[in-house]
Amino acid sequence: MAVSALPFRENVSLKPYNTFGIEATARYFLELEEEAQLFALLKNPLFKQERVLWLGGGSNLLLTGHFPGLVVRVALRGRSLTPLSEEEVLLEASAGENWHELTCFARQKKLGGIENLSLIPGQVGTAPVQNIGAYGVELKDVFHSLQAFDLVQGHFVTFRKAACQFAYRNSIFKQAGKGRYLITRLVLRLRKPPHQLHLNYGSLQAEVTRRKETPTIDTVAEAVIAIRRAKLPDPAQVGNSGSFFKNPVVTASVHQDLHARFPEIKAFALPDGRYKLAAGWLIESAGWKGYRRGDAGVHPRQALVLVNYGAAKGTDIAALAEEIASSVFRTFGVRLEAEVNII
Ligand code: EPU
Repeated sequence: MAVSALPFRENVSLKPYNTFGIEATARYFLELEEEAQLFALLKNPLFKQERVLWLGGGSNLLLTGHFPGLVVRVALRGRSLTPLSEEEVLLEASAGENWHELTCFARQKKLGGIENLSLIPGQVGTAPVQNIGAYGVELKDVFHSLQAFDLVQGHFVTFRKAACQFAYRNSIFKQAGKGRYLITRLVLRLRKPPHQLHLNYGSLQAEVTRRKETPTIDTVAEAVIAIRRAKLPDPAQVGNSGSFFKNPVVTASVHQDLHARFPEIKAFALPDGRYKLAAGWLIESAGWKGYRRGDAGVHPRQALVLVNYGAAKGTDIAALAEEIASSVFRTFGVRLEAEVNII
C-alpha cells in the first residue's frame, strides 16, 4: 500500500471495536496500518476539520452515541527483541499488537516481567496511557521507553520513563499530553531467568500456593489467568470494559473514620501514607453487586465491572454508573471516578 493512501470509510459500525459491545457508528473511519500514514493524515482535511477519536483495543471506553467525526483505529503491527545485558532483554512492540498475545510471546521466550499482566484486554499502545496494572505489577515497573507521534508538531518523539509521569491508572497521556501524542511503539525491559516473581498480591499468592509447584513465570501467568477467568467476565461473551471505576485514594484520616464506621472496609496502605479503597467492596456494600436493569448491569462476581448483557445503550450504562457513584457517595462520602473513557 502506498503510504499516502488513506482508505477512509463512512458510517462504520463500532460494535466490533468496543469490548462493551455497544452499537454506535462512526461518520468516518480509518484503519492506521503504517506509521508513515500519520504524516498524510495530519495534512488531510478530514483530520483537520473533524473531531478525532483514536481507538486501540476498545477495551477502556464507553460509547454513548453515534460519533460524528473521524475514528482512527490503530492497527500498527510488529515486535522484536534486542539483548540489553546478560540479564535483560528489550521487547519492542507496535501499538496495534494485542497485549495478552505479547505476554504469551514473552512467556514463550522465557522472559519475565509481564506475567502478572496476563489476559488484560486491549492493545499495546493503550497500556501506557492508563499504566495498566494487576496483581501487584504495573506497566511502569517494566517500562523502558516509548515512541509517540506528536500530532501538533508532526514528528515522532521518544519518551523515557520519567517523562511519562506514571501513577496509579494515570500518565501524562491522560493529562497534559492528552490528544497530543499518539503512542506508536512501546519498549519493555524484561528479565531472563532467574527472574524475581511478584507474588505479594493476596489472591495471587493463594492461587499459586494451591498449585503446589515451584512457581515459574508460567505458574504465575496461569494463576493470574485462572483468577481473572473466575472473577471477570469475558468480553467475547458479556460486554464489559473491566473495572469501570478507579479504586479511590483517600487520606489516612478519612480512612480512619471510615474504618471506625465500617470495620470490614477493604483498603490498601500506600507508601505516601494515604489509602486506596477497594471500590468493588464499596459498590457491593451499597447493594449493587449483581444488579441488572434491562441489559445494563453490575457483574455478579466483581462489582467494579459493569456489563452489557446484549442490547444496552452506552447511555444506559452511563446512567447506571452515575447512580452507583451517587449511592456510594451517600453511603460512604467517597467519590468514585470512572476509569473508562466515556465518549
Ligand atoms: N471486592 C469486594 N467486592 C467486589 C469486588 C472486590 O468486596 O465485588 C474486594 C475483594 O474482596 C478484595 C478487594 O475488593 O478484598 C480487591 O478486589 P480485587 O482483587 O478483585 O481487585 P480490585 O481492586 O477490585 C483491581 C484492578 C483490576 C485488577 C485487580 C487485580 C482497578 C480499578 N482495578 O481491581 O484491574 O485486575 O485489581 O490487581 O485498579 C481493570 O483495570 O480493568 C482491572 C480489571
